[in-house]
Amino acid sequence: MSGDPITRLTLRRPDDWHLHLRDGAMLRAVAPHSAAHFGRAIVMPNLVPPVVTGAEALAYRGRILEALPEGSDFEPLMTLYLTEDTDPADVAAAHAEGIATAVKLYPAGATTNSASGVRDFDKVRPVLDKMAEIGMPLCVHGEVTNADIDIFDREKVFIDKVLKPIRKANPDLRVVMEHVTTQDAVDYVRDNPRNLAATITTHHLIINRNAILAGGIRPHYYCLPVAKRETHRVALVQAAISGDGRFFLGTDSAPHTDARKLEPCGCAGIFSAPVTMSCLAEVFETAGRLKQLERFTSLNGPAFYKLPPNEETITLVKGDPLEGPAHIGTDDGAVTVFDPGFPLHWRVEA
Ligand code: DOR
Ligand code: ZN
Repeated sequence: MSGDPITRLTLRRPDDWHLHLRDGAMLRAVAPHSAAHFGRAIVMPNLVPPVVTGAEALAYRGRILEALPEGSDFEPLMTLYLTEDTDPADVAAAHAEGIATAVKLYPAGATTNSASGVRDFDKVRPVLDKMAEIGMPLCVHGEVTNADIDIFDREKVFIDKVLKPIRKANPDLRVVMEHVTTQDAVDYVRDNPRNLAATITTHHLIINRNAILAGGIRPHYYCLPVAKRETHRVALVQAAISGDGRFFLGTDSAPHTDARKLEPCGCAGIFSAPVTMSCLAEVFETAGRLKQLERFTSLNGPAFYKLPPNEETITLVKGDPLEGPAHIGTDDGAVTVFDPGFPLHWRVEA
């Protein structure tokens, strides 16, 4: 199957349906990397303090637009951070005014800056009911946080213990399972066609848990949900290359300075925005499905979000291995760029 004899590939400009842009100096350093390749991105709201209200999302969007290079038409699609105090009317107004595209659910304690997230899912029922009524998607970080559940099982248990009850109580709610990492999640999405989709990250298509732990500990491969065993990675690749419209790219590109990554208790997050399109071209080429790349990066996401695909195109060109930067500089310190562990032959033509 491998070895499409293709050396140029033009596709609709891709979108990133799950992105961390941060704020301040980090935002200014990373935003141009996403804007260079992507048309739009669903921007995660886990700042400190989190982006909870429509007014906060509007202000954050303004700061993102200011951080973009001159002339960029990159469009940040904002999300609101769901708390137990979120006001359904504020969410509905932000959606109606085009300020917020979706709401992000973090179970409290699940990941970076999730302390303000949800503990008691009954408390957010009125918000979810309102979202179902107006057709506003819920982006879900699908991991339980119970200390007694093994970290490698947290996604699977979340599906059974949290997601199924939420969807049963509210079948009209449109849900995106973010950054799925397991065969279980892929199967759940495949088996439940109504109002359900999933994003898949660049790195979860490429690394398994051995990359983090075998032969030395590699903090730059640590993210949440943590990468699982190889069989799960293979299931993710199968879903991504399948063309099934319910699976689309959300890079979860999540920059942290090397200083923060390399602490004794280092942060979760992988910064992949600069190399994502090159990495994905390799993954799809190796699978003999280069022509399905456009669906995954540029068509399936807009279809789920009920937005038109981008009119513009980008062209990927195959050549000598990229000598891309291993780090980018920011005023907060260096940030390591995701290293897929194999040479990257595809670049986005300028
Ligand atoms: O690895 C991760 N990093 N997973 C998340 O859910 C959050 C993200 C971040 O904000 O750094
Ligand atoms: Zn994320």
